[in-house]
Amino acid sequence: MSKTVDNIFTTYDQLLSRGEKEQLLKQHAKVIWMCGLSGSGKTTIAKGVEKELYKKGFVTQVLDGDNVRDGINRGLTFSSEDREENIRRIAEVSKLFVNCGIIVINCFVSPEVHMREKAKHIIGEDDFLEIYVNTPLSVCEERDVKGLYKKARKGEIKNFTGIDAPFEAPTHPDLEIKTNEMSIEDAVQKVLEYLLPILSFRTNA
Ligand code: ADX
Repeated sequence: MSKTVDNIFTTYDQLLSRGEKEQLLKQHAKVIWMCGLSGSGKTTIAKGVEKELYKKGFVTQVLDGDNVRDGINRGLTFSSEDREENIRRIAEVSKLFVNCGIIVINCFVSPEVHMREKAKHIIGEDDFLEIYVNTPLSVCEERDVKGLYKKARKGEIKNFTGIDAPFEAPTHPDLEIKTNEMSIEDAVQKVLEYLLPILSFRTNA
């Protein structure tokens, strides 16, 4: 038992280890952190990757902005401070999954470098894989699947990423996907090729 905060006594040492759970699931748990503009294709790629991983016997959890903001992070705004809190909580939740041996696929705009750095710090560098879904703003705006860019241009939504709020592109992502230069299937394959050697379990690893 260790005391980290006043009157709080954590008991991690008495619990089953992550290694034991990874052994049970026969996989290495990681957090795949996809960032990019709204409408860049993060969730579409995540769905495809999850399906393919499932077929190969991997256990995953997809977390995405719209769902999380409707649940655990309901009430948070799109101010820089609230986005940071959004990302912090998601990182903490992701860490719980990873400690269960589960692969987490995250789809969050996570627009500023310091937010992603915070997530990496919470999750741990070795477990944090950053994928930049790099789709030009003009393409996201053209797609405008949710009609949000139109509203943002009209000023009906404030602080919209890419319009009147910043997006700081990662300079050294682990992987970059340019969705306007390839099909969804090819994007999914590219992510899988990168992930499979990392997630696959070897008993002597
Ligand atoms: S983040 O910036 O805090 O990481 P998050 O990924 O949770 O954002 O949520 C982004 C989603 O919320 C977008 O895909 C979009 O559907 C919706 N959204 C609503 N308002 C905004 C806004 N001001 N900026 C960006 N996305 C917004």
